[in-house]
Amino acid sequence: MKPYTLLAPIYEASMDDALFKQLLYTIKPYLKGDVLDLGCGSGLMARAVAPDVDSVDACDIDSTMLETAKKKAEGENLTINFFVHDMHDALDKQYNVVLATLDVFNHSPDFDHFKKAFMNALDALKPGGILIFDILRCDFIKTYKNFEETIDTNEGPLLWKANLLDDDCTVKHTFEIGDRQSSLTERSYSEKKVVKLFKKDKNIQVLKREIFEDRMVFMIKNTIKMQEKFCIFFYGGFWTYLELMHAIQFDLHSLVIL
Ligand SMILES: C[S@@+](CC[C@H](N)C(=O)[O-])C[C@H]1O[C@@H](n2cnc3c(N)ncnc32)[C@H](O)[C@@H]1O
Repeated sequence: MKPYTLLAPIYEASMDDALFKQLLYTIKPYLKGDVLDLGCGSGLMARAVAPDVDSVDACDIDSTMLETAKKKAEGENLTINFFVHDMHDALDKQYNVVLATLDVFNHSPDFDHFKKAFMNALDALKPGGILIFDILRCDFIKTYKNFEETIDTNEGPLLWKANLLDDDCTVKHTFEIGDRQSSLTERSYSEKKVVKLFKKDKNIQVLKREIFEDRMVFMIKNTIKMQEKFCIFFYGGFWTYLELMHAIQFDLHSLVIL
């Protein structure tokens, strides 16, 4: 069973309301135009931002979560385009704002995957676009040591257990309702390592970095302008052309010598 399939019907009921409101308040001033909610889950954030922007696309790897999200959006008369997508694969559209909030990149199994998901999200920004993402703090993950809780759900009691793995910055959650079980792992990646991914890119500007009780929230902007992007495209194409011509000439030259 996919990690969130068991949680889909109860995901929003177990959400920390204060955290959600704090996050929404923090990101609201940055919302504009066409928005993608990456790893949208049951669509809580996608639905909350939809009235303030031009369009919302929302994707997730788990189709059960997306089914729940679709029903909730229809129930609220909101037009949101939901689709299945693994964040480790490239996206084929660009947005003014990409959201990867409330524990999305934390699901990457290692830093190489984290980097892939992060770069795909950056590549999905239009010129001037903003990526809003969060990363769980390691000191928060550590609070899951020997964690156990039972939550009442419509489908019976849900037993939620958590264990810390190897480095103490990784937690494995297991969920059980009757004989159905699922598990998922979340990792905290150090801020230093994450910031290194975009620190040297002169086209990336950090608009805001906010520390919450359990996570760090970043808003980073792709400052490249449309004209510059065009130039890079043509300049890149021109060099490829020159290199190709050089290679062909070289081959012809070798043939003549032979
Ligand atoms: C904690 S939930 C967050 C949901 C949502 N962002 C919100 O605001 O409520 C994490 C979501 O990330 C999704 N997810 C995990 N791995 C993913 C992947 N590789 N690609 C896309 N989504 C993924 C899960 O299915 C889950 O719905």
